[in-house]
Amino acid sequence: MKIIHSIEGIRAVRSGYSPQSVGFVATMGYLHEGHLALVKQAKRDNERVIVSIFVNPKQFGPTEDLSRYPRDMERDFALLHTSGVDLVFVPDIETIYPADFQTVVEVSRITQTLEGAHRPTHFAGVTTVVAKLFNIVQPTRAYFGQKDAQQAAVIQQMVRDLNFNLEIVIGPTVREPDGLALSSRNKYLDTEQRAAATTLYRSLKAAEGLWESGVRDGNVLRQKMMDVLSAEPLARVDYVSAADPATLVEYGSTVPAGSGVLLSMAVFIGQTRLIDNFLLAVREGE
Ligand code: PAJ
Repeated sequence: MKIIHSIEGIRAVRSGYSPQSVGFVATMGYLHEGHLALVKQAKRDNERVIVSIFVNPKQFGPTEDLSRYPRDMERDFALLHTSGVDLVFVPDIETIYPADFQTVVEVSRITQTLEGAHRPTHFAGVTTVVAKLFNIVQPTRAYFGQKDAQQAAVIQQMVRDLNFNLEIVIGPTVREPDGLALSSRNKYLDTEQRAAATTLYRSLKAAEGLWESGVRDGNVLRQKMMDVLSAEPLARVDYVSAADPATLVEYGSTVPAGSGVLLSMAVFIGQTRLIDNFLLAVREGE
């Protein structure tokens, strides 16, 4: 496994891979089984796999956790080596954002809701860095997690709008046995908070139960999630949502026949902001 810090270095190795297919997983490091599941999928689908580790300052808001975002590069390298990754790209901040950097890549409509409404500069930071990484790595396929549902949708929109010559593959959310979605930020939780954090999954399950029993009212689905979350004293809700999976616009009292729903939420457990979602489809024949 090669570990490379420079863009020229990546380009040189990458050109040696052609015409083989290249799978790419972008990460901010502190890897867990969610990241590694994407790597595994990339291994299955492609002859070569490239992973990037870069904690992207542009996607953190001024009051967010950039400076304390967890890092453990040596452990990450060992995990990626064991997973059979060919090449790891680990750029410095100056490599990605030199002093005269002045471009923003921004997707407009679907970044206005959900995470975008609560983290106004977040997605421009994500799409700017991901566009750069796509241009540097030139993957055949790039893998993103359903855990960050809106991020996946925003990147797919960017790829369509800007004609990036690659395929986006979305991998399922990997969870702990009790349902908590794996996240690098779970490390911030103490024992009591870790127990409370299952409330996100439990609230999604409760709303899923309503959906499966035929409830097609966005307000009722949101209220169900709120009821479960409110019962947890350590949880403070940032938002809950029952939205159109394509546009990410909130459903009102009726979900149109034949449409699925994206149930999603952001919840503070102490100072730690956790997100989770379920993408629910309609039943056959509906
Ligand atoms: P990061 O949070 O490190 O996540 C990297 C990738 O792993 C993302 O595609 C994310 O959706 C996926 N992932 C995280 N937790 C997961 C889980 N429990 N199950 C499945 N997939 C999971 O997302 C980012 O980094 C950054 O925004 C990035 C795309 C790298 C741009 O800076």
